Amino acid sequence: MSITNPSTGAHPSQPGVPLPKVTMPALGEMKRQGKPISALTAYDYPTARLADEAGIDLILVGDSLAMVVLGQENTLSVTVDEMLHHTRAVRRAVRRALVVADMPFGSYHGSIADAVANAVRFVKEAGAEAVKIEGPRVELVRALVNAEIPVIGHLGLTPQSVNRLGGYRVQARTADAVLELQADAFALARAGAGAIVLEGVPREAAAQITAELSVPTIGIGAGPDCDGQILVFHDLVNLTFSAAAKFVRRYADASALFRSAIERYREDVEHRAFPSDAESYHLTARKATGAAGRQAMGADNSSADLDSDEAVVNRDAFEDWPS
Ligand code: KIV
Repeated sequence: MSITNPSTGAHPSQPGVPLPKVTMPALGEMKRQGKPISALTAYDYPTARLADEAGIDLILVGDSLAMVVLGQENTLSVTVDEMLHHTRAVRRAVRRALVVADMPFGSYHGSIADAVANAVRFVKEAGAEAVKIEGPRVELVRALVNAEIPVIGHLGLTPQSVNRLGGYRVQARTADAVLELQADAFALARAGAGAIVLEGVPREAAAQITAELSVPTIGIGAGPDCDGQILVFHDLVNLTFSAAAKFVRRYADASALFRSAIERYREDVEHRAFPSDAESYHLTARKATGAAGRQAMGADNSSADLDSDEAVVNRDAFEDWPS
């Protein structure tokens, strides 16, 4: 039985019952057992909590944060401090999934010592259980593993290389390029990477690498033969305000849902239909003394309605008016 099988433990919403926490070694075990790994990005408490409660195995605080949450043109500008801030929020929400922090552009492109120091911050200050780095940085992977930091590699279309690549293009489109990709994946795995994200590569290339690699591949735009799949949360629920890439499947239309909710709220406010009386707090007869009470309850101070049990709404939050 898989040590990550959610059915062996409690749902995260059941406090006090042990959970089968997903770890980096557990991902390797899933590959060996042929059990697909589900991964999703999240950047804040509510989405991370929903993903965790839905049984997602790996939650990545991706540097896609820059684009889908912060509205930047690409991922290059997001900082270590911004990524730490969001990783902390995600960490607070997650009980079962493996929490992986994406190291942002510039945080691991200088010396190995600086890169390790930055990675340590994600573990120490934000509670990340692994970091992800882009490109075939074999020496860095070795140094991170020596520093006890699990690492996920990321090959193929690496968005932090957008300026060098000249755009977001499918990679490994020739036999030589596939061989190079495969060699990079093997080298990262030998150096200690616990898994490799393969992004924007032909299905056939990803399938071949997945079949021969000792650690799991997690695909995004790499076809169905990888050991796992990852999507950006905002793509999954249509919150990106742009056309979806070919590999994206929209599982919900949150844009339409949120837009309609916000429009209906605005209309209700404009028509004085929100809040209703039932959504308002009331003075009780007991407390309705003094000028405010007399004004609210009429001259004789004896309105039965205002003195009823329903007079104080949301009693979990407010037992009574503060005296
Ligand atoms: O930043 C990100 O969201 C990612 C995934 C798409 C793999 O790197």
